[in-house]
Amino acid sequence: MTPVQASVAAAGWEQLVGRTYDPFLWLGERRGMRDRRAALLAGARGRVLEIGAGTGLNLAHYPDDVTELLLTEPSAPMVVALRRRVERSGRGRVRVLAAPADTLPVPDASVDTVVSTMVLCTVPDPGAALAEIVRVLRPGGRLLFCEHVLADAPRLRSWQQRLAGPWAAFALGCRCDRPVLADIGEMLRVERLRHDRWRGMPVLVRPLVIGSAVRQQSAAGPGLERQRMGSGALSPVAAGGSLDPPVRHRKEGGAR
Ligand SMILES: C[S@@+](CC[C@H](N)C(=O)[O-])C[C@H]1O[C@@H](n2cnc3c(N)ncnc32)[C@H](O)[C@@H]1O
Repeated sequence: MTPVQASVAAAGWEQLVGRTYDPFLWLGERRGMRDRRAALLAGARGRVLEIGAGTGLNLAHYPDDVTELLLTEPSAPMVVALRRRVERSGRGRVRVLAAPADTLPVPDASVDTVVSTMVLCTVPDPGAALAEIVRVLRPGGRLLFCEHVLADAPRLRSWQQRLAGPWAAFALGCRCDRPVLADIGEMLRVERLRHDRWRGMPVLVRPLVIGSAVRQQSAAGPGLERQRMGSGALSPVAAGGSLDPPVRHRKEGGAR
């Protein structure tokens, strides 16, 4: 395949994924993800920016009193679906911005809440995306996250590592072998955390971490040690002004 043919094929695949994303997630949404989105987004406050908003599956779950909602998304087919969903919702104070997570078109410290659901698996450089999240959050602002991660269970972890390449080719760059929680903890203070399983989805992407992390005054510094985060035996972390309801803890395990 020539480079031109390869890029035409990739664009075609991206179009197809944009059109089939919601049906692909349908079972997972019914089997818990929809409720998870609602619980997580109940903590959104003030000026909210979502990265990788996809087709807008979070839109219905934002509280009515958020002052402004900025939905960012870099994929053109997803942006089309996202705009359509925003129009259908009739919701005010929502803007769709075509932008990747590492170049957000908003000023420093101008956002109260950043939302990331199943995005840090896909961005090319999670460190760059998180640095950008820290930049746009005001001190004390929060990242609300729900992300699939590298499992603790050795068998599943090894399958995730072996199949990460083919999975990424299928799922437009999504990596099933990323220690996303450790990446978040490098940049923000994780204050709420629970582990769960993404039922109704392929086993490679089932282990989930869900929670919130705060941008501190200094805008840097690890909230948790990498090693502890990798253990999965975490409890909610340091105290301090949480917006979310107390979280249940469940450690992710192997395939079920
Ligand atoms: C698995 S989907 C999740 C979509 C949505 N957040 C949800 O919860 O349904 C991953 C999303 O990340 C987007 N994405 C890919 N590269 C990105 C980047 N560099 N920055 C931000 N989002 C990106 C994809 O286009 C896609 O919409």
